[in-house]
Amino acid sequence: MRLLIKNAQLVDDRGELGRADVLVEAGRIASLEGGEAEHVIDASGHFLLPAFFDLHTHLRVPGQEVKEDLSSGLRAAAAGGFAEVVAMPNTDPVIDRPEVIRALLGQARRVDGARLSVAAALSAGQEGRRLAELSRLKDAGAVLFTDDGHTNEDARLLAVGLRYAAALGVPVAVHAEDATLRADGVVHEGEVSERLGLPGNPAEAESARIARDLEIQRYGKGHLHIQHLSTYTGAKLVRQAKAKGQRVTAEVTPHHLTLTDEALFGLDPIFKVAPPLRERADVEALIAALEDGTVDVVATDHAPHTLDEKEADFLRAPFGIPNLEVAFPLLFTELVKKRGFPLGRLVEAMASAPRRLLGREAVRLEVGARADLVLVDPKRARPVTPEGFISKAKYSPWAGWELVGWPVLTLVDGRVAYEALG
Ligand code: DOR
Repeated sequence: MRLLIKNAQLVDDRGELGRADVLVEAGRIASLEGGEAEHVIDASGHFLLPAFFDLHTHLRVPGQEVKEDLSSGLRAAAAGGFAEVVAMPNTDPVIDRPEVIRALLGQARRVDGARLSVAAALSAGQEGRRLAELSRLKDAGAVLFTDDGHTNEDARLLAVGLRYAAALGVPVAVHAEDATLRADGVVHEGEVSERLGLPGNPAEAESARIARDLEIQRYGKGHLHIQHLSTYTGAKLVRQAKAKGQRVTAEVTPHHLTLTDEALFGLDPIFKVAPPLRERADVEALIAALEDGTVDVVATDHAPHTLDEKEADFLRAPFGIPNLEVAFPLLFTELVKKRGFPLGRLVEAMASAPRRLLGREAVRLEVGARADLVLVDPKRARPVTPEGFISKAKYSPWAGWELVGWPVLTLVDGRVAYEALG
């Protein structure tokens, strides 16, 4: 089946490319100059972008399907304009066995949403005591190793893990927080935590751990990827390490780019996340670091929990923010529209950089490219309405925010994975 997307404004990591009639055939871009097709879409006034790729998604399978499952999670991803997501291994049981990866990849093929990739645990059971069987996990399809959700307290395990993973050509992603400095902190330590009387998690818990992990990378070699960077100093350390030529990459989440700890004044656990929302100066530093490439990737850290769990009292509620369905419109509105952040750079951070980080080809809007594409409407404003989310987590820190840039069509290998053309 051929699909012709007419009059779309093309944007990829090179920036705005002008208008074209894009013909999609057999999972590829067949032409930028139109052609015969069974289906024709008039995309006047819309941007056509490479579909996004999320390096950091919690799909909660196996074992926590009450929070999310493959169908809800992968369809939510497609609705957010994502062609592929990397599922995190902090599940129940933990994803640390090849059979589990094979089963998940098999099940995901039957879901009509985004494609699935799987991150495997770095340590058996994510317990930080001994390495998981990295080579067998890679053979089963693992694209990343991480104990995400847990901190890596054992420095030697991380050093050896980085070295083994490098031999397999796989990056190691770290949840960089010093558990002893974080202690029982539930919000960023500062004026807000003091006024609320809540235990604080200092910025230094992150920056001290990043400093250690950068040293470990220098020693162990290998590719270190720092997840959900949240602090001014963390960004500075990554910038310095890159200037020295270290093999380090970093990601930032939509929430750390758009919210500060002042959102916590309402004591609503929906804003409770790890690492915590920080101060305005941190947010500004993260935006600058994303723009200058210090931070390579925007990754969602979509972390669904049940509403019941999130409505518990603040100290007991779990950490995590669901955001797959709002990530792009949120950043398009708040960064590109309101602050003039370069759209091409945002597309690079959400589509090209995460693919390259895993050794894949970035999708460019050229003849022959894989047809992982998303069409977004840059004009029609719509509020965030979490009750309409496909994700099982039907709540949002951004509920009611008026956003533009909503995806209206997501193609995954040329297949329609989401459509809301109206
Ligand atoms: O807020 C978070 N939620 N941060 C994490 O690191 C883990 C995640 C989860 O799994 O819920």
